[in-house]
Amino acid sequence: MNPWHLVRGLARLVAGRPRTPRALAGNETLRTVLERRSIRRFTDRDLPDDVWRAILEAGRVAPSTVNLQTWTFLVFDRAGWEATFDRSLPMGAPRAIMILADTHRARRVVEGFPSVPMCDHTVGVMNASLAAMNMTVAAEALGVASVMLSETGKTGFYDVAELATVLDLPPGVVPIMTMVLGWPAAAPPPMPPRLPLEAIAFAGAYRETPQRVLEDWYEQMRAGYRASTGQDFQRQIDHYNRRLEAAERELRERVLGPDDPVR
Ligand SMILES: Cc1cc2nc3c(=O)[nH]c(=O)nc-3n(C[C@H](O)[C@H](O)[C@H](O)COP(=O)(O)O)c2cc1C
Repeated sequence: MNPWHLVRGLARLVAGRPRTPRALAGNETLRTVLERRSIRRFTDRDLPDDVWRAILEAGRVAPSTVNLQTWTFLVFDRAGWEATFDRSLPMGAPRAIMILADTHRARRVVEGFPSVPMCDHTVGVMNASLAAMNMTVAAEALGVASVMLSETGKTGFYDVAELATVLDLPPGVVPIMTMVLGWPAAAPPPMPPRLPLEAIAFAGAYRETPQRVLEDWYEQMRAGYRASTGQDFQRQIDHYNRRLEAAERELRERVLGPDDPVR
């Protein structure tokens, strides 16, 4: 490898490390949030029931718009996943939580529940995402590794119609991700490239991130993607574009239902 690239790569790794003010370095919650990594290899060992329950409990108490709790968690162990989807649980994990944005439940009791697309597509998805994040952080705090997945073969959120059929989902219930969890089988990888704080946090008014910073970050993303998957990042984006178009069609035709204002 070109020594210049190596030095630049190392410098980026060091620069990208989360920075914590020295006085706060001992704070365990902060450490958990800053050092969490997506883990994609798990040991065979299952999670004990109390650990599993604590993680789900963190999802249950997550914040949500007007406390509407527009989420459902479908939980699986290996046998349950195989029985449902006829394939192994992704990445050899012992457990999975499929997180569903769910405005269906609230609609059954809340009179005049908003029926604009904005509600399903932001309130539902936003709250369910926050619950997912609460569960990831709780898992991390308990030493349990996890990764959120949009694509899990024939079971990810791009497989809208398949999921709605296999899981018998009512309209207004949309899977947004599957989190797989377990004990980590390897040390966490280095943090994938993050934009620097100065490029994303501005006092009071929006500013354009300098082009040079963006291009540097994108170059790191592409190199990291190639190193970890052997694939070209741009090709993957094209692949997602095709999957998303098909998913969008299925969502409108099969899941949102004839009364949905999006149609
Ligand atoms: C909604 C969502 C979907 C994701 N889908 C995938 C996926 O399909 N496959 C995968 O390997 N990682 C997936 N990830 C994990 C991201 O690649 C990961 O969070 C990102 O690279 C940053 O790495 P870190 O979580 O270790 O900080 C997903 C993350 C999120 C939040």
